[in-house]
Amino acid sequence: VPAGRCVVAVDGPSGSGKSTVSRRLAAGIGARYLDTGAMYRAVTWSVLRSGIDLTDAESVAKVAGEVDLRIGTDPHGYGVTADGVGVDVEIRGPEVTGAVSAVAAVPAVRALLVARQREMIAHAGRIVVEGRDIGSVVAPDADLKVYLTASAEARAARRSAEDATEVAVTAADLARRDTLDSTRKADPLAMAADAVELDTTGLGIDEVVARLRELLTERGVA
Ligand code: DC
Repeated sequence: VPAGRCVVAVDGPSGSGKSTVSRRLAAGIGARYLDTGAMYRAVTWSVLRSGIDLTDAESVAKVAGEVDLRIGTDPHGYGVTADGVGVDVEIRGPEVTGAVSAVAAVPAVRALLVARQREMIAHAGRIVVEGRDIGSVVAPDADLKVYLTASAEARAARRSAEDATEVAVTAADLARRDTLDSTRKADPLAMAADAVELDTTGLGIDEVVARLRELLTERGVA
């Protein structure tokens, strides 16, 4: 695997398979991995801990600006800390999941995190970045942009297998978050014009990763 610069943007809705696929792809091509959703989740955890009103955008932005947020980029295991507290488990819990769309909709929060993400990408050089606005906003010059989709049923089934919640509950929560994430004014979930769309319904992880590696080879970047 060549050591040159290679930035892969992986976007798509929740449950489309982004995380597993992105981590495996990064490990396979010897790249770093950045989970930008974890950054929005960690800020949300800090906001909830501070006890401020989630609808008070100014206070939410203030917390985002003050929290010392750190995230690793090792595809084999990365840790997220907020003000020195390890929050890997907490950021996957129902409180954070229920509040994250509201926090991610605040423009000042996005501006802060997008700047951090761009720094990390520039520093890593070779990295797979997963999120909602990576190809469209964070890294418009990425070497490969993928937009993963899957049927609503497949996405709900995957998520409930991960967190042991009933499929119907997960389906309703995903639908609610999709609407919030794609209709917000600041950087909504959207497919970049030059992204490759890949429907992962019925595909195994290995098949999706293999397809992405083919695309990278075709482009001569990995
Ligand atoms: O991928 P995830 O479920 O961990 O993302 C958590 C939330 O953060 C999701 O509701 C959308 C938001 N998000 C975002 O707005 N922009 C990103 N680049 C990544 C996530």
